[in-house]
Amino acid sequence: MKASELRQKYLDFFKSKGHTIIPSDSLIPQNDPTTLFTTAGMHPLVPYLMGEDHPGGKRVANVQKCIRTTDIDEVGDTTHHTFFEMLGNWSFGDYFKKEAIEMSWEFLTSPEWLGLDKDRLAVSVFEGDADPESSADDGAGAPFDEEAYEIWRKLGIPEKRIAKLPRKQNWWGPAGETGPCGPDTEMFYWVGDPDKVPESFNDDNDQWVEIWNDVFMEYEKTKDGKFIPLKQKNVDTGMGLERMLTAMNGLDDNYKTELFWPIIEKIEGLSGKKYGGSEEITKAMRIVADHIKAAVMIMGDDKGITPSNTDQGYIVRRLARRAIRYGKQLGVENNFTKDLAQEIFGIYGDVYSELDRNGGRVLEELEKEESKFKDTLEKGLRQFEKLKKDNIDGKEAFNLYQTYGFPLEMTVELAKESGVKVDEEEFKKELEKHQELSRTASAGKFKGGLADSGEETKKLHTAAHLMLAALRKILGDHVHQKGSNITAERLRFDFSHPEKMTDEQKEKVEKLVNEIINSKLPVICEEMNVDEAREMGAEGVFDSKYGDKVKVYLMGEFSKEICGGPHVKNTGELGRFKIIKEESSGAGVRRIKAVLDN
Ligand code: SER
Repeated sequence: MKASELRQKYLDFFKSKGHTIIPSDSLIPQNDPTTLFTTAGMHPLVPYLMGEDHPGGKRVANVQKCIRTTDIDEVGDTTHHTFFEMLGNWSFGDYFKKEAIEMSWEFLTSPEWLGLDKDRLAVSVFEGDADPESSADDGAGAPFDEEAYEIWRKLGIPEKRIAKLPRKQNWWGPAGETGPCGPDTEMFYWVGDPDKVPESFNDDNDQWVEIWNDVFMEYEKTKDGKFIPLKQKNVDTGMGLERMLTAMNGLDDNYKTELFWPIIEKIEGLSGKKYGGSEEITKAMRIVADHIKAAVMIMGDDKGITPSNTDQGYIVRRLARRAIRYGKQLGVENNFTKDLAQEIFGIYGDVYSELDRNGGRVLEELEKEESKFKDTLEKGLRQFEKLKKDNIDGKEAFNLYQTYGFPLEMTVELAKESGVKVDEEEFKKELEKHQELSRTASAGKFKGGLADSGEETKKLHTAAHLMLAALRKILGDHVHQKGSNITAERLRFDFSHPEKMTDEQKEKVEKLVNEIINSKLPVICEEMNVDEAREMGAEGVFDSKYGDKVKVYLMGEFSKEICGGPHVKNTGELGRFKIIKEESSGAGVRRIKAVLDN
């Protein structure tokens, strides 16, 4: 089975079950300060799981591009990837456990759809928390998911193939510190010898590969760590495309599917080594293929990420440099990342048209990054050999970073290979002294995470709309949003504008925004199709992110913007708007930090 066929079958199936098919969202989350990447299909859908109306209705499905940096250390086996595609279907307060499980089962086993052998499938359900006396409110005490268990039994799964597992395995979310979450049921496929399928399911046996996860999102985890019932009961499911494709083709290794194999073959050609030649070679080839693919997909997104020392750019740099080091270990002499990128465009060009638009920039940036790093890699490795004693202190680690461009994680990895330790704390202190990077590497930003949907964040989000409209009035129509990042404390907003704003311009923007706040305009949300939104002059991304229908938030005639929400009900709720800082954020892009004083 081809990947394109699997994607299509999934979408066709859920369309036949009344789901609206929506496009993949960007890999870079909008309005989410706590996480760098879209980590799951549900991630861009959090507002709808929390109760906002989705323009596509209560049932949607899609294929979502995802990046998980938490799995970087596991990359090298047969199933973990930094970039992956997730097939997902959602119910926003519509169907729940019974329908979700029955649909999953039908799609997996019906000969009309995937037609998998029922005898090679097993499942797990949430066993319940240890202390049934305590209430679900504080996180413990969520009960055994008997309902899911019984549904599977009725579908004919033998008891021995239904594992009851604890919260650690069978509870999903929230994606960050707060947000929707709940018990889940996971489906596993036996990828080993079909004649030797064990009678019982055992989640320690890695020949049982997890292929699908149905999450029953009925709780919200709040800031103070409590679990409260959500307004509506939702379903969030995720099926890993790469794993499923492997299973459908009777393979035992995701890298042998068409989503990776052309990259691996290219690496074989460049290195003169054979995949499978030794464990070490296989692992190195997998890491190179995985990392360059992830770097290409991140840079290929329309947000224009390039290798740098902060945020998403730092992850791209870290991935590319790690791949370059493994490439060298495999004996690849010349620059190779561009060649691999071409293979990646070949694999995904038809699916993600943004790669076409951004391909030239991706190749250029990769080439630059590789040339820059290759110059220092060798010297840095020699320096590392010299340092290799019992421990590497923070200053030395920082020197490897600053002088030779070794990301901290790479130094730590090299050190581990030679059984020495790196003083990471001291490194971070050094780094802060040099005022670079700081937050990205140190503040745990690599964990997944979602913005809290708290009231302050919502207010600042509404203020951001007002500010964009004001900027366009004061500076001109060339101003468009380039990015935004909102916490409960402040908003950060990037927009296109070629020069520094004058004090007078800043004052005018502040004044205008405060006028609109004081005139207490209602914030109205209207659903319409993309063309209507364009005609009415709404700001926003017109790549019809939600298929045909979009939501437009209106504040009088002043602001019209395509947006998923959430927003406050009236501009009068906002308090006083104030610009704290205006600075450059790349060529032709300015950045404003602003706050609301209550
Ligand atoms: N959010 C769940 C996961 O990532 C299901 O989509 O597995």
